[in-house]
Amino acid sequence: MNKIDKVWIIDFGSQYTQLIARRIRELSVYSEIVLPDITAKEIKQKSVSALVLSGGPASVIENKAPDIDKNILDLDIPILGICYGLQLIARHFDGKIHSGKKREYGKSKLQFNKNHKLFTGVKSGTQVWMSHGDHIDQLPKGFEIISESENRAPAALVNDDKKIYGIQFHPEVEHTIDGMTILDNFLTIIAGLSKNWTPQHFIDNKISEIRKAVGDKKVLMALSGGVDSSVMAVLLDRALGKNCTAVFINNGLLRLNEDDKVVKQLQDKLNIPVEMHDYSVRFLRALEGVTDPEEKRKIIGNVFIEVFEKITERHQDFDFLAQGTLYPDVIESRSVKGKSEVIKSHHNVGGLPERMKLKLIEPFNSLFKDEVRAIGRELGINQFILGRHPFPGPGLGVRIPGEITQEKLDLLKKADNIFIKELRKSGEYDRVWQAFVVLIPVKTVGVMGDQRTYENVVALRAVNSSDGMTADWSKLPAELLARVSNRIVNEIQGINRVVYDITSKPPGTIEWE
Ligand code: XMP
Repeated sequence: MNKIDKVWIIDFGSQYTQLIARRIRELSVYSEIVLPDITAKEIKQKSVSALVLSGGPASVIENKAPDIDKNILDLDIPILGICYGLQLIARHFDGKIHSGKKREYGKSKLQFNKNHKLFTGVKSGTQVWMSHGDHIDQLPKGFEIISESENRAPAALVNDDKKIYGIQFHPEVEHTIDGMTILDNFLTIIAGLSKNWTPQHFIDNKISEIRKAVGDKKVLMALSGGVDSSVMAVLLDRALGKNCTAVFINNGLLRLNEDDKVVKQLQDKLNIPVEMHDYSVRFLRALEGVTDPEEKRKIIGNVFIEVFEKITERHQDFDFLAQGTLYPDVIESRSVKGKSEVIKSHHNVGGLPERMKLKLIEPFNSLFKDEVRAIGRELGINQFILGRHPFPGPGLGVRIPGEITQEKLDLLKKADNIFIKELRKSGEYDRVWQAFVVLIPVKTVGVMGDQRTYENVVALRAVNSSDGMTADWSKLPAELLARVSNRIVNEIQGINRVVYDITSKPPGTIEWE
């Protein structure tokens, strides 16, 4: 197997860091995000082929500004600093930086001072996206300016001898029109990396990595039945065969008949035996009388852990636990640990108590959902399974504001089933990122035949998104919405009104709780 070149992105806290990782992988080069405390020794040990220093909200002039091990700059591997990353490079090479009163924010046009391979195929005047407050007054030693912004501020500095490059703009965002070309130039022309990160490489690599880590020990797989855990199940099955046992906990908060479907899909279609544990009564009991959204999430997460602990007691001979955690989940759990504000406590990441002593295997924790889908396709999983919408860990528990009861769950499941079936029939299912129904705990007056009705309201929610971080409401055809509304009100006793949620994220979130 060819060596897979690996790029590490040192994260200084920019909102765009994940986007850099993703863009690099889109260019078929493998990339991972690491924290600034990484050392030159680790980078060498892991044979990293190139480094990107991300942007970040701090100013390099601040006392506590995040920094890097300065030996990294002598490693003789190509380095690209973006925004904060550039300022950091400039400071390390004795450049002078001042904090400008005026931020350079938004669109600007690049002017080239000379031809340089970093800008191969890019024309002077190309639009770039700026977002920074610090300015370079005095050039760092050994560097030259090859490009300036509209305001004649340095936009790109290079030191070809040391293979260190810095750009003030963000190549990873869409507003930088030639951003992908510039990243590509850095990766291939400057760093000489091979574009060999393909789903098949990922699979081969992961399988040998997992086999090496697990040896002849046993692994418990926690399945939700969603896309990520189904792909993981197939990957682990290939890697470990019988030494891997799939466990599925039914929390009673799944879509209509989803519990049976999950087991059938995995067993019949993917050939993976599943141990199903039905704890729906226990979950519902724990949620009795609870109305606060965060409390509900915490209860569902805690019961999940309790139940899981019980199950693992029966599997004393297991050393590893595998979860289909994705990169955006890791980000969520990082913010849960205290950096940024907790919007919702996603409960499916690393929530297991240490006393369980299971070592975690998370083969997808550096990937985005569409990347996992690509791996699933390579593993031969069919589109029906891969194309399913994301479904939150707490399930329908976060789609019933107020207290959750069995009666409300039954209503919601029926309405949701109609919506999803109609979406599939109309061909719209694959065009939206996620769609579902929310049961609003409010009764309104209606009329059916000659009878007055006084029943529940449901909201339909459908959004377009690329990663769930931001989203826009889907402009579904009016006839489809009308058909869904008609069917729900006519077929489900207990619901007499249907509304459509037209809130984007931000300011809304995708789920209602
Ligand atoms: P929000 O509501 O935060 O949702 O805009 C963004 C995406 O995340 C899903 N979601 C979750 N997924 N565990 C999960 O696995 C959770 O606790 C959770 N909460 C929200 C949500 O369905 C959407 O796709």
